[in-house]
Amino acid sequence: VAIIGAGNVGATTAYALMLRALFRDIVLIDKDMARAQAEAVDIAHGNALARPARIWAGTYADAATAQIAILTAGAATHGAESRLSVTARSAAIVQACVADLRAAGFDGLLLVAANPVDVMALTAFEHAGLPASRVIGSGTLLDSSRLRQAVAARLGVAPGSVSGYVVGEHGDSEVVAFSTVRVGGLPLSAIPGAAALDLDAIAADVREAAYRIVTGKGYTSFGVATALVKICEAVIRDEKTVLPVSTLLTGQYGISDLYLSLPCIVGRGGVEKVLVAEFNPAETEQLHRSAEVVRQAALGRMG
Ligand SMILES: NC(=O)c1ccc[n+]([C@@H]2O[C@H](COP(=O)([O-])OP(=O)(O)OC[C@H]3O[C@@H](n4cnc5c(N)ncnc54)[C@H](O)[C@@H]3O)[C@@H](O)[C@H]2O)c1
Repeated sequence: VAIIGAGNVGATTAYALMLRALFRDIVLIDKDMARAQAEAVDIAHGNALARPARIWAGTYADAATAQIAILTAGAATHGAESRLSVTARSAAIVQACVADLRAAGFDGLLLVAANPVDVMALTAFEHAGLPASRVIGSGTLLDSSRLRQAVAARLGVAPGSVSGYVVGEHGDSEVVAFSTVRVGGLPLSAIPGAAALDLDAIAADVREAAYRIVTGKGYTSFGVATALVKICEAVIRDEKTVLPVSTLLTGQYGISDLYLSLPCIVGRGGVEKVLVAEFNPAETEQLHRSAEVVRQAALGRMG
């Protein structure tokens, strides 16, 4: 696996991937070579105590034969800055990195984490020369995990027993689709105590989670790294796992030519199928509004 961008997200992802032992080779690529080297050496120092892997700082030539390239190089947000506010800066970085990756002959799966991730995944797709199925944005997998965690904590059940999706933009317009939430496979209406849940407060919690973390520690890293590992695992093990990831829409809900998150079947081929769930009318309307927000950001990319 090649990880482009050895900052907070890239280094944490490399570390999580080393512990998960999915890859024999983990190469970190960053325009700041000293930083990439320091992170690689630090992670490699734990490898004697984990399963063997080679972790090093390299160049795009090292990424040429990677099965997966994870793109974390992008403009970071600070304080109350929205993800969309860094669109132009991130797009320039993503474009440059993808051009280098393509020039090196990379022909694997490109997993994009740089924000705003839906617009950056679209940018990467436009420049990578890869089929859309093999250019994936981490999308709302993280937000969906936050939703499951939030519902689980309030109901006193394990997060793994809660399923449900946040869809649309990974950002302020995202759709927290409570109609999809199940606890142990049962709808919320069947769960004791669930009627008392303040769904609006949970949705706000999920939507604002990253801002609170950025206020506290300056960036987010562990949640997104875990989501990236999960996607890698689904691809490498050809799992056909259903994950809400950002993918090129081709008419679903009447939306096309945009990257947005919907539940997708993820396997060796990347996004192998996009699932079209029956959201309630309010959620469907929110999804359309979210698409419009992302469309405007995509149009204004270089502005
Ligand atoms: N998708 C998500 O859920 C999610 C979550 C958290 C952060 N992010 C995003 O991930 C990105 C990275 O965040 P971070 O906290 O790691 O930022 P960071 O500033 O710590 O790291 C970015 C790294 O990219 C490198 N870089 C910049 N331009 C480059 C280029 N042209 N070529 C190679 N490397 C380059 C920088 O040197 C830096 O090391 C941001 O866009 C952030 O918003 C996404």
